[in-house]
Amino acid sequence: MNLRSHSHSRLLLTLSVWLLAVLSLSAAAPVFIPVETAHNALLLQTDKDGRLLMTYFGTKLNHSADYGQVSAQTNYHDSDTGFFNHAYTPAGTWNLVEPALSITHADGNVSTELRYVSHTTEATDANVKTVSVLLSDPVYKTEVTLYFKIYAKEDVVEQWSVIRNNEKGTLTMGKYASANLTFTAKNYYLTHFHGAWAQEMKPEQTLLTHGIKTIDSKLGTRANLYEHPVFVLAFDKPATETEGKVMLGTLAWSGNFKMDFEVDAYHQLRVIPGINPFQSEYPLASGKEFKTPSFIYTFSDKGTGEASRQLHRWARDYRLYDGNGTRLTLLNNWEATYFNFDQEKLVKLFADGKKLGVDLFLLDDGWFANKYPRNDDKAGLGDWEPNAKKLPDGVSYLVKEAGKAGVKFGIWVEPEMVNPKSELYEKHPDWVIRQTERPEHYFRNQLVLDLTNPQVQDYVFGVMDNLLGKNPELSFIKWDCNSVIYNAQSAYLQKTKQKQSQLYVDYVRGLYKVLDRVRAAYPKVPMMLCSGGGGRVDYEALKYFTEYWPSDNTDPLERVYIQWNYSYFYPVIASCNHITDWSKVGLKYRTDVAMMGKMGYDIVVSHLSENDLKFSQQALKVYDSLKELVWRGDLYRLASPYENAYASSMFVNDAKTKAVMFNYVVTNRFDATYTPTPIRLTGLDATKNYRIKEINLYPGTSSSLNTSTVFSGDFLVKNGYNPDLSLQRTSVVLEITAE
Ligand code: DGJ
Repeated sequence: MNLRSHSHSRLLLTLSVWLLAVLSLSAAAPVFIPVETAHNALLLQTDKDGRLLMTYFGTKLNHSADYGQVSAQTNYHDSDTGFFNHAYTPAGTWNLVEPALSITHADGNVSTELRYVSHTTEATDANVKTVSVLLSDPVYKTEVTLYFKIYAKEDVVEQWSVIRNNEKGTLTMGKYASANLTFTAKNYYLTHFHGAWAQEMKPEQTLLTHGIKTIDSKLGTRANLYEHPVFVLAFDKPATETEGKVMLGTLAWSGNFKMDFEVDAYHQLRVIPGINPFQSEYPLASGKEFKTPSFIYTFSDKGTGEASRQLHRWARDYRLYDGNGTRLTLLNNWEATYFNFDQEKLVKLFADGKKLGVDLFLLDDGWFANKYPRNDDKAGLGDWEPNAKKLPDGVSYLVKEAGKAGVKFGIWVEPEMVNPKSELYEKHPDWVIRQTERPEHYFRNQLVLDLTNPQVQDYVFGVMDNLLGKNPELSFIKWDCNSVIYNAQSAYLQKTKQKQSQLYVDYVRGLYKVLDRVRAAYPKVPMMLCSGGGGRVDYEALKYFTEYWPSDNTDPLERVYIQWNYSYFYPVIASCNHITDWSKVGLKYRTDVAMMGKMGYDIVVSHLSENDLKFSQQALKVYDSLKELVWRGDLYRLASPYENAYASSMFVNDAKTKAVMFNYVVTNRFDATYTPTPIRLTGLDATKNYRIKEINLYPGTSSSLNTSTVFSGDFLVKNGYNPDLSLQRTSVVLEITAE
């Protein structure tokens, strides 16, 4: 090589090194993707290697250019730098913390890497838009798209992921979370909600320490029996109703879920919610996609009250079936008769319903099955023919008779389940989730039908189609689900050579397919979501249901707490609150508590004393005048039953010209002999003046409150008002009207 050509090649080399450096520099230029609602922001940005990180979460920054400064303010030291806050952490490469995604590729390799490819924003309308970010594995070409649907005004984000297999063969997903969020704060306080039958939604607050706290369910169906897929997360310090930075989060999935809360080595909190990977390895064939359930969250820097109101508005406008529609008051016969009724008795109860003044009569469990009649909970589930002895003239006769009596008619079903003592079980044992080689194990004497099987889906849809198709005037469905899944094994998956580990996921997908068909065919009928009480309440199921049954526990004192806790996440228009004889607490207290949502009755009307009947008839009229306010108003939880001898909540209309305040004594202790101090009516307009009147009084009683004073909103917000609760006045409802 001569000197000239040598220097020429050196020049070329220098040039190409320079070019490479420039190229890699430009590749390293971070991409910023702000996910912004009206008040809040979540910031995604790429690192020097093109990995996607989450670098900010909280109140929106005033100057968007400042987002560029965020990551420079962190100072990670070791080789894990920046990786802990990956926006969708893959397993098997550089990551050693809890992953969001774990894959076994077609060739058996268990490593995945995800690099940023592109992002887009699509607007649905002026309020709603979706940011999607495409990530891809440089080796296997597996793609993950992260979706952030933004509901700007409501400050709500709905997040999910879509995983796509671009390999030639089938890959297997071990973990496939919905989201992977990272937060930075001094401390993290998690409130989660556990329970059991008749004890739903009991809050427990914990300071998160380093390591992982997991909230999960492995029950399959009735999945929320012990843990609910919802949480409150307060940053820095525990939040109150009116103060503090707080996030409300919930997974929209009616099956096994898992939410991991991991405080990492830098004291960041990583939250990874999704389908529970427990026995749920899921295959994904070449070219196929898997969409995870949505993780839905909202944030407020003004406490849990505002965060709840944001979620309520979003749910009514965008999620709950007919969220802004109307609801029917009803008389249910479950606690009044249990299984012991026939059509004559029912027809009398219709008349009772009319006398009481409700819109609808709801016939509960026990109306079906002939070979093995449903006279208790041991037989008949699955055989949805009316029992000829109890109902010789069938359901259509009841619909007609109810109509004649002046009430609408609704009916209970539990179509996903089967008693072994049933014709359905005898005919189709292969439709039942069970281990054929092992003894059966029952929950409430029943088993779960295999909704992974399209034939079973057809059958369940057929049950509904038969009822609703034959009885177009049927006005209400209560859809129950009492059993968990034991011995998870599907004959259908076996026969079709699919994996048993698909069962938990495909069950839920099968359920949604059935519900899609029911809704397509019967869009108008209101449906109550019930699961042996509140064992299945989530925002995916509520896409199909107008309301839910919070708990079989209808003791109003318990309901003050149960309804309080559900109200963090779900608007009260969806909460079915029934007045029953479960407890000895006075009828007024029971009625007032039921009014804080969708009111109904489950009592023997003919057993009511004259005054009780008069009071109830009047109460239904009062409810009628208040329901718009309760259903669509803003909820202010004013005094917590956990911190006081009383509880107090208020619903306020948009214009802040009308409010209703519910107050209850929650203990028999000396503390409760009177309300010593006023309760602040946050939520009223400080510039308006208000008159306060006690309503829904029991016949023969009068209010101890003076109604002649007009109070300034300023006074009511800052000083508060004393409802004069006492052991003689345990329940006080106040109507607040602007002058
Ligand atoms: C459980 C429900 O929660 C109750 O309201 C009632 O419908 C029973 N099932 C009927 O079996």
